Amino acid sequence: MTIKEFIRGNARIKKWVLAILFRRRPYQAKVRWYVWCFSVFPRYFKRGISWRSRLDLVPFNKFSLGSYSRIEDGVVINNGMGDVIIEDEVHTGVGCVLIGPITLHKHVGLSQYVRILGMHHGIDPDKPHHHHPSTKAPIILEEDVFVGTGTVIMGKKNGEPLVLGKYCRIGANSVVMTDIPAYSVAVGNPAKVVRIWNFTLKKWDKPASNDIIL
Ligand SMILES: CC(C)(COP(=O)(O)OP(=O)(O)OC[C@H]1O[C@@H](n2cnc3c(N)ncnc32)[C@H](O)[C@@H]1OP(=O)(O)O)[C@@H](O)C(=O)NCCC(=O)NCCS
Repeated sequence: MTIKEFIRGNARIKKWVLAILFRRRPYQAKVRWYVWCFSVFPRYFKRGISWRSRLDLVPFNKFSLGSYSRIEDGVVINNGMGDVIIEDEVHTGVGCVLIGPITLHKHVGLSQYVRILGMHHGIDPDKPHHHHPSTKAPIILEEDVFVGTGTVIMGKKNGEPLVLGKYCRIGANSVVMTDIPAYSVAVGNPAKVVRIWNFTLKKWDKPASNDIIL
């Protein structure tokens, strides 16, 4: 059993550790100043991370950034709920919000103000929203996915990974809530596939119906 598993399995110790790491309610998304100094501040010296971005990173989950990847001004990255893994040559445009667990494979491109949300809050009306337990909703963007500006990508509520397949294109201002197949163009709210790459004729075809084809 690892230390992480031991802490997770013991409710009292877990609560105590979280109280040491995080600011008081309702600001739990931000770590305390001494955690920030040792575990977040040094990350700003990594090549590719803008000083004007906001990193809300905890020491018990991973954050990694590959070579030649870029975190632009105003980007928010939070790994409190799960790892944020960014591979090589990924570009995150101005103002993006990335809440883990998220994996961005190489050459992924996020335009401005894309929000990728790898968690859900409960919706019990008897409690304030920040008192609800949060659940993980992992999101994976495969190689060379391009996401248009203003898009929201929300993980699945059942906790299974939401996958945007290799080379898919997501139109500006879309809301993605289901898997998107590789080599397709998906647009709208909720996002639907509107084009599929025809490998034989080397052109984009309209799908037979507007339903998402997997
Ligand atoms: C999704 C996108 C890549 C598709 O471009 P394309 O391959 O040239 O495809 P088309 O323009 O032929 O559009 C295909 C269909 O989707 C529709 N569509 C395209 N983008 C859309 C969008 N953002 N929202 C809703 N519908 C959209 C088109 O009207 C068209 O509909 P049709 O099948 O009824 O004709 C492009 O429209 C887009 O949104 N790009 C993102 C732009 C952006 O964010 N740029 C920032 C640069 S940093």
